[in-house]
Amino acid sequence: MWAPYIWKNGELCEWEKAQVHVLSHALHYGTSIFEGLRAYEIGENACVLRPREHFERMLFSCRVARAPSPLDVDQWIEATAATLRANEHRAAYIRPLVYRGLGETLGLDGRSGPIETIVATVPWATYFGADALERGIDAQVSSWRRPGAGAVSALAKIGGHYAEAQMVLAEAKDNGFAEGIMLDQMGHVTEGSGQNIFLVIGDELITPGLGDSILEGVTRNCIRTIAADLGITVREATTPRDLLYKADEIFFTGTAVEVCPVRSVDRIIVGEGRMGPVTRAIQQMFFGIVTGALPDKWGWLEPVCIEPLMQERRAV
Ligand SMILES: Cc1ncc(COP(=O)(O)O)c(C=O)c1O
Repeated sequence: MWAPYIWKNGELCEWEKAQVHVLSHALHYGTSIFEGLRAYEIGENACVLRPREHFERMLFSCRVARAPSPLDVDQWIEATAATLRANEHRAAYIRPLVYRGLGETLGLDGRSGPIETIVATVPWATYFGADALERGIDAQVSSWRRPGAGAVSALAKIGGHYAEAQMVLAEAKDNGFAEGIMLDQMGHVTEGSGQNIFLVIGDELITPGLGDSILEGVTRNCIRTIAADLGITVREATTPRDLLYKADEIFFTGTAVEVCPVRSVDRIIVGEGRMGPVTRAIQQMFFGIVTGALPDKWGWLEPVCIEPLMQERRAV
């Protein structure tokens, strides 16, 4: 058990009772829409990083998947706060999910089936392990290409799309790397299996654009804001594969990976093989804000006070 409670269809449910039927549509056809958020512990609070942006993206993904969300952004935020409180989680990875449940048919058009919703909060520290945020990780260019624009909606976070991402990650790990980088059908860099990518080249920070088959990461947006604040020029650019071997620094960004340096690609050392100064400056500011060491000057954190429920529980 990772947490005592999961919020399901409007109420908190004990871990063991949060079940799905084996003929649920989502299990067969990937008809689920999800998000990944993080809460950081600051004092008594679980501070959720940019929940509004995450849930706006979730509602967009639901529109693309034609699976309407029964909750609006504020209701998702309330459900998240209730789950964090019930689990007494101040630091957590948060997983909201909308999925097609058991309908009247096993057919591909699952729209007769119910829309189900959950929010789970689980403890989850660093994605690539304790050292990775300082030492960086080794990545490979995957042999799997991202489906072209128009084949799937890269901008929507739909469960079925992640069948490919899992193959990318498994292939990379089996080959001795921590992560895979996907190229698109034209051979341009897109992103990692679950994170966006930035390249430092000279005095510029480059990242693939929204037309390059990427998810529009919330962390990517934080990093662009931080970089601009630090006086670093950020440019969205279609990125040929060989720039990965030319870059002075490379880093991944995402809710799970946070800001993680890449020290080699395809066993070619990036820069000096350790975290470079641009990555360090950006990473320091990001962690400064989410840990409360620096002011939250862009209002990214939404605090959820965990203490009152703990007191109520103790009183019972
Ligand atoms: C494919 C993909 N790209 C990028 C990201 C990073 O997005 P965010 O920063 O919003 O977590 C994620 C994570 O959700 C992802 O799954």
